[in-house]
Amino acid sequence: MLEPDNIRKDFPVFREHPDLIYFDNAATTQKPQVVIDAITEFYTHFNANIHRGVYDIAAKATERYEAVRGKVANFIGAPSAKNIVYTSGTTASINLVAQSFLGAQLKAGDEVIISQMEHHANLIPWQMICKAKGATLKVMPIDREGAIDLGTLRVSLSKRTKLIALTHVSNTFGRINPIREVIKIAHQKNIPVLVDGAQSVAHFDIDVSDLDADFFVFSGHKLFGPTGIGILYAKEEHLNAMQPIVFGGDMIKNVSFEKSSFLSAPQCFEAGTTNIAGVIGLGAAIDYLSQYDKKEIKAYLKELREYALSRLQEIKGFSLVGSEEHSSAIISFVIDGVHPHDIATILGAHQIAIRAGNHCTQPLMDFLELPGTSRMSFSIYNLKSEVDRAIEIMQEIHDLMFGA
Ligand SMILES: Cc1ncc(COP(=O)(O)O)c(C=O)c1O
Repeated sequence: MLEPDNIRKDFPVFREHPDLIYFDNAATTQKPQVVIDAITEFYTHFNANIHRGVYDIAAKATERYEAVRGKVANFIGAPSAKNIVYTSGTTASINLVAQSFLGAQLKAGDEVIISQMEHHANLIPWQMICKAKGATLKVMPIDREGAIDLGTLRVSLSKRTKLIALTHVSNTFGRINPIREVIKIAHQKNIPVLVDGAQSVAHFDIDVSDLDADFFVFSGHKLFGPTGIGILYAKEEHLNAMQPIVFGGDMIKNVSFEKSSFLSAPQCFEAGTTNIAGVIGLGAAIDYLSQYDKKEIKAYLKELREYALSRLQEIKGFSLVGSEEHSSAIISFVIDGVHPHDIATILGAHQIAIRAGNHCTQPLMDFLELPGTSRMSFSIYNLKSEVDRAIEIMQEIHDLMFGA
């Protein structure tokens, strides 16, 4: 059984700020001591550059860095460590696929499909490459609860469709997308699919092989790891079709003034000195998360979300943005007559961290005709008593503004 009360003790931030109620986990999660220790251990005991030095600590740094690749592969069900490219985050992973994979093959008149709920990170890279190549960015519509229509998707695919990029879970309202079905439909026409796993990887059991995803991307900082480290998983055939887009040290075979040749994937996509400490921290985060059963994580977060939703519904003027069902550990909402930023600011003054705004999904806000929403997002260290405290404050705000 998951014991959130005990889990909290692993996170020093809650000792430092005993009154902190952290409901901004979709933005970034807090870091357990083991992750902080792993990074400190690297800098204290075996800090050296990787793949180069022949002395002991360099060998250890290289060995620990490369071992995490296998750990990540295992964690997401990838066939091999060779399918795992270290990047600086989800954003960098998507940009790499857009420029390297699509950049090489996209022609005028081709199409890339995304959904109406994508984070800007899974929108702008495709928009830019489509503009550069004269291709079209098509947008899968959703309904007001965030459901995509698979029938519409089916008929919108053509020989010109070169890629579908879809978030597994919407960062704005938590909607879980039917990625397995989308991948099946796409593969019937040999169209590759990129899954943005930024919001799913910490909560769901991910098996990229079973899903048959072509690309799966995520950031370390949303699963208790450090910032500045992310992952691109790609099928071997796709990695082999991709050319490096950043050039320099640690990715070459031979260099002369006339020409250079490059290492094979994944190393050819990791030019320069990478975020070694970040990789080691990510390894520790995966170890930390792996001690819990993902089914229990999912069940606990579902229970917490349902509880929070039922309590929020007690507030007059509350409206959920998105769907009661089919949602992950995120609640997006508006309250009649109160600006989302005011809710976040007042809660912030009481040490309750939530997020307000467009959540990097401006086109989605345009579709919903909202200036923004307030968003609570939960993790395994959150408690029902924290929800109660947040509701108490929100009731107070409401009573103050509109009378009890
Ligand atoms: C669904 C989704 N995609 C992409 C990103 C971008 O992640 P990062 O800023 O770590 O690159 C986020 C971050 O919030 C996200 O929620």
